[in-house]
Amino acid sequence: MLENLSAQPADKILALIAEFKAETRPDKIDLGVGVYKDATGNTPVMRAVKEAERRLVADQTSKAYTGIAGDPAFSEVMIDLVLGDSVARARVAAVATPGGTGAIRQALELVRLAAQKATVWLSNPTWPNHPSIIKYLGMNMAEYRYFDSETRGVDFEGLMSDLENLSEGDVVLLHGCCHNPTGANLSYEQMAQVIGVMQKKRAVPFVDIAYQGFGDGLAEDARITRLIARSFDNCLIAASCSKNFGIYRERTGILMAIAKDADQQGITQQNLAFLNRQNFSSPPDHGARVVTTILQDPDLRADWEAELEETRNGMLALRQQLADELKRLTNSDRFDFLAHHRGMFSRLGTTPEMVEKLRAEHGIYMVGDSRMNIAGLNAQTVPILAKAIVDAGI
Ligand code: LMR
Repeated sequence: MLENLSAQPADKILALIAEFKAETRPDKIDLGVGVYKDATGNTPVMRAVKEAERRLVADQTSKAYTGIAGDPAFSEVMIDLVLGDSVARARVAAVATPGGTGAIRQALELVRLAAQKATVWLSNPTWPNHPSIIKYLGMNMAEYRYFDSETRGVDFEGLMSDLENLSEGDVVLLHGCCHNPTGANLSYEQMAQVIGVMQKKRAVPFVDIAYQGFGDGLAEDARITRLIARSFDNCLIAASCSKNFGIYRERTGILMAIAKDADQQGITQQNLAFLNRQNFSSPPDHGARVVTTILQDPDLRADWEAELEETRNGMLALRQQLADELKRLTNSDRFDFLAHHRGMFSRLGTTPEMVEKLRAEHGIYMVGDSRMNIAGLNAQTVPILAKAIVDAGI
């Protein structure tokens, strides 16, 4: 049987972890996989997470199954964190999932159950695992323009013109905040226009929100998702706790499906539970319980929010430092986009050859499409990166 298998391509982002590890130059710089790092290069366990884990270990009296949809308390706190009061709670079906990727996978499976022929529209570019899962599930896929490689901002005209080609029932995947891989984001006003076209075409939004709190703040980063959620009868939202709680390996995420009314919510909830049962029975619990503990406890929550703010402001400061340094070295403002981008990533906007040159000559690792993880920098490495960019003639 196994002789029938053919080789699979390595995941281009995750492969960088091993490549960077194997790099022997001591001054190497890792701007690859989207994992937050502090100034020493460590990915810390957040203070509130440590404390919540301590309480869980002390107080937990059973490891019996939680339930197919996960702990209802986790759904409650996450719906509140992401959606606030933008939609009636009775309209929201939700299941815990293994990370944000698990939520995306379950969302796409739900689309396939409900509308087998629907085309899923993705921004060009998007996180490479989006098209990969869609292809694997045998679903129809299309792209809308998103990134302007000249300005390194959003190609809004291209985007709006491509969305005119939507058909009724098509699903449009939108990044809730901190677009991955570009770092370029739609403004609230632009998203309102996108919503207008989607409503006209009777398309369904699917929001991937994996970096809430990494852009402009927890509530601010949820604004666009909330606007989308309240503008449609149906909406899918995949949210990840990997980044904002720093619990990458715990695989903690949630899929929310907003239904037209309470009846539709009931059926949708059953279908979400069914999909969980088919794929992994019940979702991982530890990370979800940590998140619930933090969000339900005012002191832990305040400490988590404070640490998340430190993280966010640290990344903003690095963005500004890099933009300033490049302005000084090039005597131009063509790298100012780095300060305007939001989230962990910025797409530098150069060729794979240049990315390879930065790796070969300077030990600087980034994704082949020139996506840089800003959190991989620190105040000392910013000038080194800036000089390498200029020396390479980017
Ligand atoms: C990334 O984009 O680097 C992260 O979301 C990690 C991943 O799984 O690709």
